[in-house]
Amino acid sequence: MPPPSAEDMLEEQRVFADVIRTFNNYAQYSLAANNRRRKDVYLLPKADQDLLNTLGYKQKLDDVDKAILANADFLSEIVSDTKIFGVEMEEEVEGRDLEHAHGGAHSHSHDAGSSHSSHSHSHSHSHGPHGRASTKQEGKSRPTEFDMDKLRSTMKQLVRDWSEEGLPEREAAYQPMKDALDKHFSHIPQAERIQLKVLVPGSGLGRLAYDVAKMGYTCRGNEFSHYMLLTSYFVLNKTTEIKSHTFYPYVHSFSNAPNKESILQAISIPDVSPSDLPPGSDFSLVAGDFEEIFGDPEGAEDGEWDAVMTCFFIDTAKNIVNYLRILHRILAPGGVWINLGPLLWHWENNNTNDLSVELDLEEVKALARSVGFEISNETTIPTTYTNNAKSMLGYVYNASFWTATKIANPA
Ligand SMILES: C[S@@+](CC[C@H](N)C(=O)[O-])C[C@H]1O[C@@H](n2cnc3c(N)ncnc32)[C@H](O)[C@@H]1O
Repeated sequence: MPPPSAEDMLEEQRVFADVIRTFNNYAQYSLAANNRRRKDVYLLPKADQDLLNTLGYKQKLDDVDKAILANADFLSEIVSDTKIFGVEMEEEVEGRDLEHAHGGAHSHSHDAGSSHSSHSHSHSHSHGPHGRASTKQEGKSRPTEFDMDKLRSTMKQLVRDWSEEGLPEREAAYQPMKDALDKHFSHIPQAERIQLKVLVPGSGLGRLAYDVAKMGYTCRGNEFSHYMLLTSYFVLNKTTEIKSHTFYPYVHSFSNAPNKESILQAISIPDVSPSDLPPGSDFSLVAGDFEEIFGDPEGAEDGEWDAVMTCFFIDTAKNIVNYLRILHRILAPGGVWINLGPLLWHWENNNTNDLSVELDLEEVKALARSVGFEISNETTIPTTYTNNAKSMLGYVYNASFWTATKIANPA
């Protein structure tokens, strides 16, 4: 893989600085949004204000302010040590080396975009890597709503991966994938599992990859979103105590709230101690773009992986043909591809002129067969994604599940 150009490195550093700036501007931005509610109350006739007061509405706004400030403290801890990423946060980033820039396959232990995010009104999703669909290209501008949405989604993603409240989602999505992995390798004794290499592309905040490593396999996650990478690094490397961090992921929207408790719900993470992987475990995350790292034309990754597990990932493809070809190429003979997810094409209707091929499920499966997979265990699994169980609104995906084995060379 050719090294990234100086221009690419600079762009990467700017993107990273923008992400840090988003974390740092969270309190100001979110308090201003809550203050808009407060100001609107003052615009009402006095009698209406008094009525709202009797409901405790103003008190709720004050409580939300407090929760936002607590979130800000938590978020600032996440970005308090960015040296591992080659950037120190208060400093200018121009001219600095960003360690895992641009699919450089820089791997550090225990690391991890956040799309499929549940938004307040529409169920839209963030496009593309690093928030580039926003208008700014240069650093130093103020975070946009798009950036803040990614940060808020990251908080909800923390619920999915690392809280007790996320258990139902993990049971629905990760458990069948883990079961399928064990079933495929049931002939391999437990002690020899460490020799089996499992890749989890688009690993998000890293829980599935962590669980697979805990099951005894050698497991590597791959992720390119700085929001995910910073946050998973924090959980996996800086957190030792169960429930040592508390935050309030649902204070940003008042829509579809049955009561104030649902808005002010406190979430504590983690539900397990990330550092208690058994001795001898092999777990790592590699930062960078899946296609850039694993689509290496030199073939460095070809046949390297005994299993690839894609959870809510294949629809992040601009060109699904390339994704499936890569998945096929990097699998070892006898290897298995385990997939679960919907087809929420992340690049559909993008405003950045990026190409996007949006197949239906039958087409995806036919394509997989054409590139050399034999698909089995096909089923549909209803599951949510970063769902607030206490909300009046919930989206259920009829996620498609399958396991696939490599039977031939790609077409
Ligand atoms: C919908 S999320 C799923 C995350 C995780 N698998 C889960 O189930 O919670 C898709 C993830 O893939 C990541 N992603 C998207 N395109 C990617 C790419 N080309 N290379 C690496 N990661 C990518 C996003 O940043 C995001 O974290």
